[in-house]
Amino acid sequence: TDTQDDLDLRDHIRGIPDFPKPGILFYDISTLLRHGPAWRAAMARLARLIRPYKPDLLAGIESRGFLVAAPLALELGLGFVMLRKPRKLPGATVGLDYALEYGTDRIEMQADAVQPGQRVVLLDDLLATGGTMAAGIGLLRQAGAEVPAVAALIELAFLKGRQKLDVPCEVLLQYD
Ligand code: PRP
Ligand code: MG
Repeated sequence: TDTQDDLDLRDHIRGIPDFPKPGILFYDISTLLRHGPAWRAAMARLARLIRPYKPDLLAGIESRGFLVAAPLALELGLGFVMLRKPRKLPGATVGLDYALEYGTDRIEMQADAVQPGQRVVLLDDLLATGGTMAAGIGLLRQAGAEVPAVAALIELAFLKGRQKLDVPCEVLLQYD
């Protein structure tokens, strides 16, 4: 598939001021999703970055991480598993609580979703503080998976979320 190297993904991401709170500049991927060639190029480029880690399986974090994990799984010929908000998944689940700025959150996965020793690359749309991605890594490891890398479309580099991660994080775009 075509990575369209002359296409600048920055032209397809917009910053929306004061969302979700005053003073926050929200990087909106909706415009990228809406543009067929740019979205296809983004997925092809991410596939190229992830392939060298030789994953057996991908994982995506609800909800915007699913938008990335599903097409990449198809592109790489792999399956993918959902890491979800609490009480969304049927059957036996495993979960991990993690700290937010105020309070805590939790992500869950089906207990049989990964096999011990499987190499799972974790995907999300955005790396901000890194709390979500770190929790996802923790949950996958708790289930016995190896996590050789994580990846996202966008990194808000000024938040230094990468410092919370002990694996490489591949991204397509960084904002300061
Ligand atoms: C956003 C984004 C990442 C996370 C990044 O998800 O999609 O998952 O925040 O933040 P962090 O690095 O500071 O943890 P959000 O909670 O807005 O939910 P959504 O994906 O369901 O829209
Ligand atoms: Mg999210």
